[in-house]
Amino acid sequence: MAKKIIAALADSTLFLREWFVNPQRTGSVAPSSPQLGAAMARWLPRDPKSYVLELGPGTGAVTKALLKYGLREDRLIAIEHNPTLARLLQKKYPRATIIAGDAWELDTLLAGLPEPVMAVGAVISSLPLLNFPKQQAEALAQKIRTVLEPRGRLVQYSYHIVKDRSRGADDFRLLASQIVWWNLPPARVHVFQK
Ligand SMILES: C[S@@+](CC[C@H](N)C(=O)[O-])C[C@H]1O[C@@H](n2cnc3c(N)ncnc32)[C@H](O)[C@@H]1O
Repeated sequence: MAKKIIAALADSTLFLREWFVNPQRTGSVAPSSPQLGAAMARWLPRDPKSYVLELGPGTGAVTKALLKYGLREDRLIAIEHNPTLARLLQKKYPRATIIAGDAWELDTLLAGLPEPVMAVGAVISSLPLLNFPKQQAEALAQKIRTVLEPRGRLVQYSYHIVKDRSRGADDFRLLASQIVWWNLPPARVHVFQK
């Protein structure tokens, strides 16, 4: 128990430090709560062999929930822009593929893996899209559409809880939307399908 609390405190401190360095890109002052992680993980693909692409894993709060709720570590691919966070996450989850890079280059990054990945069953995104221009968010959504399996899902959270769409996702069908109050700040999880 004490070990868990120390680990959580270390993650929170690290997150806050990265926020001071780059608030725009980090997008939040604290890692997501286990409740928000669980709300995202509800939408994991049924097929255990499907790959899941996580965008902006940070210190791994959502990652932890994805693995807890059944995602196989070797089916997880995550793209994190911050190299320090990416390195730490790779240490935590050695069998996962953690890429230090830009989510907007997901197509080239996935194709460039030693075993290239052409399709994923879900994209789980924590990217602070509201901090990016609409056109940029749309460009990312198009790339996500291309890589998602036909029944694949895009799961994105936002702190703009009154908004019922996610930035850039206009070409997707909204499947579900849920507010998670137990998070700092409260967040809305949007689930989309092609
Ligand atoms: C709001 S934090 C979420 C962190 C974690 N998933 C959580 O929920 O606690 C957003 C994360 O997205 C990352 N990020 C921002 N822009 C990115 C980009 N272009 N490509 C990949 N990651 C990015 C940030 O470094 C940060 O770790």
